[in-house]
Amino acid sequence: MVGIVRRADWALPESAATPEHLFLNRRTLVAGLSGMIAATALPGSMPAARAQASDQTLDLYPAKLNDAYPLDRAVTPADVAGQYNNFYEFGSHKQIAGAARSLKTRPWTVRIDGLVESEREIGIDELIRAMSLEERLYRHRCVEAWSMTVPWTGFPLARLIDYAAPLSSAKYLRLETFMDPEAASGQRQVWYPWPYVEGLTMAEARNELAFMVTGVYGKPLENQFGAPLRLALPWKYGFKSIKSIVRISFVDERPMGFWEQIAPSEYGFWANVNPQVPHPRWSQAQERVLHTGESVPTLLFNGYGEQVAGLYAGLEGEKLYS
Ligand code: MTE
Repeated sequence: MVGIVRRADWALPESAATPEHLFLNRRTLVAGLSGMIAATALPGSMPAARAQASDQTLDLYPAKLNDAYPLDRAVTPADVAGQYNNFYEFGSHKQIAGAARSLKTRPWTVRIDGLVESEREIGIDELIRAMSLEERLYRHRCVEAWSMTVPWTGFPLARLIDYAAPLSSAKYLRLETFMDPEAASGQRQVWYPWPYVEGLTMAEARNELAFMVTGVYGKPLENQFGAPLRLALPWKYGFKSIKSIVRISFVDERPMGFWEQIAPSEYGFWANVNPQVPHPRWSQAQERVLHTGESVPTLLFNGYGEQVAGLYAGLEGEKLYS
């Protein structure tokens, strides 16, 4: 198992650490391998076209801008952000937008469970209608040292927590992505620890910046962005911002995230952006701003220290920045 999982180690990091042509060669090799595994695991199975119920929230977009979070840089063009995505369920490269269309996002339910007054399952349209939507302009910094700036639409995670009514024994939030290997070919790659999972402390989850995202660029999310519900945590590396969420659990033990399971020496629980703490295999001092050709200095907490630095007082002994 360890050997199999190790095979995936190159996947996220090397795109940043290795010159592009070497990375692509390696990728071709692994793409061929995973194709073979898919063919043996699911002989002749191609996802048939599946009926999709319609999105009942279209009238809520575009939502009003909350201007409490001003930017220091231009918004990334929609077609650039929408063609450069990490969503390993659909492949370990950035051009997954086409493949992600096979994900059926309606009907879609979100399960709320664990340490709550009462567990429940709620339809996505009902959930979105119960929260009021707003737009926020956020910077997004990937651990691979690229960044973008995105107008997300959604609602504060704190509002969802209030709705869920957790018990006081809840210490962490554990979020989980869908599991559907028929629609998501990446999930047929059995050496990954599917489904994708991420976690936060309750204090982080209640921070004003923690944002549940349902739309982008003034419209409901396209699938490659993590429709119909994803997280945006702008002070943390992008891998914490889990996509296409189906389950939110309130727990008393620290959840182990997808990347932490794959490579614990490289990816940790906290994953706060810090230019002074390099990834074991590359520097985090600078970031490549998508579309601009520019490289700019990375900021502590991705520039959101005013809102979040207080969350980490007294935790200096922890690996807060990996
Ligand atoms: N969520 C799931 N379920 N699967 C993923 O592969 N990738 C993460 C994060 N959330 C990922 C995920 C990473 S590494 C990043 S940088 C962001 O999604 C990318 O979000 P974007 O495609 O909207 O830029």
